[in-house]
Order: sequence, then C-alpha cells, then structure tokens
Amino acid sequence: MCGIVGYIGGKQAAPVLLDGLTKLEYRGYDSAGIAVLDPDGNIVIEKAKGRLSVLNEKIDGGRAVNGFCGIGHTRWATHGEPSENNAHPHCNDEKTIAAVHNGIIENYTELKDKLIRRGYSFYSATDTEVATKLVDYYYKKYNDPLRAISEFALRVRGSYALAVMNKDYPDTVFAIRKDSPMIIGVNGGEAFLASDVPAILKYTRNVYYVDNLQIARLEKGGVTFYNLDREEVEKETVEITWNAEAAEKGGFEHFMLKEIYEQPRVVTDTVNYVLKNGDFDFSEVGLTDKDFKKIKGIVIVGCGSAYHAGVVMQYVIEDLARVPVRVELASEFRYRNAVLNGELVVAISQSGETADTLAAVRAARDKGLKTMAIVNVLGSTIAREADYVFFTKAGPEISVATTKAYSAQLVAGYAFALKLAKIRGTVEKDEYSRIITELTSLPEKIRELLNCKEEIQKFAAKTLDRHDVFFIGRGLDYAVSVEGSLKLKEISYIHSEAYAAGELKHGTISLIENGTLVFGVLTQKNLIEKTVSNLVETKSRGALIAVVAEEGTNVPADFEQVFRIPVTDGRFAASLAVIPLQLFAYYLSVLRGNDVDKPRNLAKSVTVE
Ligand code: F6R
Repeated sequence: MCGIVGYIGGKQAAPVLLDGLTKLEYRGYDSAGIAVLDPDGNIVIEKAKGRLSVLNEKIDGGRAVNGFCGIGHTRWATHGEPSENNAHPHCNDEKTIAAVHNGIIENYTELKDKLIRRGYSFYSATDTEVATKLVDYYYKKYNDPLRAISEFALRVRGSYALAVMNKDYPDTVFAIRKDSPMIIGVNGGEAFLASDVPAILKYTRNVYYVDNLQIARLEKGGVTFYNLDREEVEKETVEITWNAEAAEKGGFEHFMLKEIYEQPRVVTDTVNYVLKNGDFDFSEVGLTDKDFKKIKGIVIVGCGSAYHAGVVMQYVIEDLARVPVRVELASEFRYRNAVLNGELVVAISQSGETADTLAAVRAARDKGLKTMAIVNVLGSTIAREADYVFFTKAGPEISVATTKAYSAQLVAGYAFALKLAKIRGTVEKDEYSRIITELTSLPEKIRELLNCKEEIQKFAAKTLDRHDVFFIGRGLDYAVSVEGSLKLKEISYIHSEAYAAGELKHGTISLIENGTLVFGVLTQKNLIEKTVSNLVETKSRGALIAVVAEEGTNVPADFEQVFRIPVTDGRFAASLAVIPLQLFAYYLSVLRGNDVDKPRNLAKSVTVE
C-alpha cells in the first residue's frame, strides 16, 4: 500500500530514491514521484503516472534532477484515481513544503474543510495533499518544523508513514509514523528512510525501527528522534543479517517463481526455529510450557492467504491437541462483538502490518486476551504488539501473491499444534516422534515436487482460455482449495471459486458447463471417495477435471489431469498439495502475459482497511 523513501547524504539523491522505490514497487505501482532539494535551495518535484519505469525514463534514471536530499513515493491509489496529479510528493502552494505518505487519513474531509476555511485550496483528490497542507499550516503558525509535525499527529486520525521536506531546513527530512511501516537506516554521514528494509539494504544494514508517533529528523550528521512533546528520545539501531540477494530475483524470471523454489529452505528454517534436539522449544516465541497448559481455546485471525493458513491450522490443532479453535477473517473479527472466553488469539500475517489483522490483535488485547503473532517481518507492528511472536523464516517476500510465507505459516501452525498436543498429552510419545520425522521430511518432498513443473506448465498452456475454474475438496483439502483458488484468480485474472466439495450440490453445480475446469484436491484418505463422487458429478455435466492426489491414490481414468504428490501424514498434506496449485497459477499468469509479481489492483502490504 504505497512505498515511501527518503535520502540525505553525499550522493545524488534522485538515483538513490529511484533505486529504493524499485525495491518497494511491490507495495503499489500506479504512479510514482520524487522531490529533491536542488542546488538553488528549491524543491523540485517530478512525477509520472504508471509504473516506476515511466518516471525513471522521464528523469533519465535520476540524472535530470540534481541535489543531495529528497523523498520519493510509489503509489497504490486510495483517494483519487491513479494520475500524475494525484501522485506524490504533494506540496503547499509556495512549493516550500513537500511530503510523501503511506496510509490513510481517515478524517481528511474534516481537515480539508478546516483548511479551506483558512484559505487553502486543493489541486488533487488525495488525503496526502491535506496532510501536507496541514503540516504547512502548523509550520506557518508556530515556525517550528517539529511542532508542525506533532500538531499534525494530534489532529489526524488514521494511519501514516509521512516524510516531509521543508525549504527552510535544507538537507533535512522530517518523518513520523503511526500504524504504517517505516524504517530509517544510517551509514556514516548518510541517512535513509523507507517503508521496508530491502529498499535501503544496498546502502546500509544499520536500521532503526521507528515506533508509533515517533518523529525523526534525518540530517547528514545522523538521525534524531523525538516524542510528540518534541523531547529527544534515544534509539538503538538493529543490524539486518539477511542478504540483499534475498530480495533479488537471483536468475529467476519472476520473484514468485524464485519464492516458490525457496520453499524447501523456508520450511526447514521455520521448523528449525522451534525444533531443538528432536523436540519443540518455544522459548524464542516467548511461550513457556506453563503458557501452553493455560490454553483452553484459540481464535485465529488473518486476511487472504494468511487466513487460509489459519484454516489449515484450525484443522490440525483440533485434530492433534483437541483444543477448540475458531478461525476468523480479521476484518470481520475486529467489528464483531464476539463472545470470547480467555482464548489465545493467534494473528497470522506475512507483513505484520495488515491493518485489519493489527486491529484484531488490538481488539483482543483490549478484551484482556493474550495474543500470539505468526509473522514474517521482524520489527513489524503486529510483531511488536503481540504477547508472543513466532517469526516465520521465509525471508523477504517480494511477489505480491504469497507462496513461501504461506508455506512457512503452515509449518509454524503444525509445530504449534504438535507442541500443544504433547503438553496436553493428546498424542502418544512414539506417534509424536513419528509426526516430527514426517514434518522434517517435508522440504525434501517439496523439492521433489518442484521437479514436475513442466507437466504443470503444459497443463496451464492447455487451459489458458478458461473463464471459470473451481477448486473443491473436503476437510484439509478444502483448506488448500481456497488457497489454490485465490492464487489462480489474483495473478491470472481468471474467475475462480473454492468450495467444500459437499456444498457443490447446494447451488454451485448449476455453474458447471462444458469445459469448466474443476480442480479436486484428494489427500485426505477418509474423504477421497466422497470428493471423487462430487468430481464425477461435475464431469457428467461437461467439466474438465484435474486432481492433486498422493502417489498410489486411485483416480478415475477419465479425469483429464492428475498431479501426483509424495505421500505424507495427512495433516501436513496441504504443504505439498499447494505446490502444484501455486505453479499452475504462476504458469497461467505468465502464459496470459500478466505482470506476475505485480498483479493489477493489488499491493503486497494492505495497511489500509
Ligand atoms: C495473497 C496474499 C494476500 C495476503 C493478505 C494478508 O497471495 O498475499 O491475500 O495473504 O493480504 O497479508 P499479510 O500476511 O501480510 O497480513
């Protein structure tokens, strides 16, 4: 949901800003812009509608703009259509103040009216122009740039990561955040600001995680932090240990394919995070055995694929640990007056910044419940606010459609379920060891599966022109169907739905016609025959059938396509069944000429409601 960058130092700012924005384009890509303080002390703003490449070309890779201090933005439109006029940076009428913003100013109409009454006029439809002019208003009133920002923060409702340049303070960038991500990096005399670490990793590994409502002042000499009373606050840098290459394509055509291929490593690392000497140890998560014993019920919240990982987790925990689990969409949970009774609330989020999931964590904490986050991004807001944090070890995920982070969430869920089962005594010792062995063999099986990509590619080429695709399954096979369907629709733009196979007859089957593609997931032994019957019913009505089934599973000979997966414990089958579905979506998207890593209308980190 928009990416912001800032730079002050000895290099030409524009190329550094463009470079940082390239790494943030996954957050939004309908327009982009930069503001740089030129050698005459004027703020120069350059913007362009479309991908970052359009801006890049317009300003010759940054060479057309001179200056050592600047801010930049890549946009995912919230207020106002994608256009050059609505693109950031925004500025006051005199062009003495410019700002970039990621987030949503909820009371922007009220603030806009107030500013109009004070003589301001507006050229764009954005809430960011209002934010910029609000800062301008308070700067003119108090003649103090820090005060202007703290007054802004006191009056604004919503979320923001805001970076501001002020002509009266050359070579300085002011910034503040609330509920939208922002990190600041330093390297000698240089200071960098960004929505996410990969944007600055090429230049520094020393990063400050800015807290909510902290103001930062970036100068050549370093960064100073203040609270809203403008008192200085001390902060420590954190050293980033992962490589810049982790956020590069590494020879793959798309980030999505690279990330699909990283899954064996990701699963190994995530399991090893809590598996020590053949047993689970959750001390790094912050959970003691005593905490586990207190768990009498669990509510899982998440959005999109993270919610889907939650559905899998629900089945596995209930099956292994016999604790009641409910899984809810975070966007619903936060506004529902749910009956809660001391449950542990588990929030699943790759980014750790999803607005609805964060709000659900806060709602749970307000009700006195303990919260555990399963997150991928260190220093993210959800990670900081939850009582316990399980860091999935997926590394930076750049493709908008999640693959490896989802796989990491699944195994984090299995590990949690197993540990809970052991503590509650619902799994025998031998069975426990057997299941752990099975869990640790998943990476090898995923690797094996990835070798079958050609078969999937060919099938994708045959089914390129479908209008509708259905995914069906029962139990855990239903849980993986919803993920397969989401993956397909979000990057191929083909309409797709997932149904619990038993539900087909209750309405959906009327949509099946000649050539409709129906995917069946057949990994749950006791349910395979039932789902096969449902598939046969669709076949009798003209459907083309593809199934994902374990080696050795009997599949009717007239089904058009069978993707085989290695045999595993049924509880972990989602981790294998999802791989062909991810690859199918990927190849279909490539073959249809779509922008796989940046599908239309989407953004990686949904920091607005
Ligand atoms: C789908 C996808 C999204 C995210 C969802 C939650 O491929 O990536 O559905 O899963 O937006 O995001 P996080 O996990 O960052 O909270």
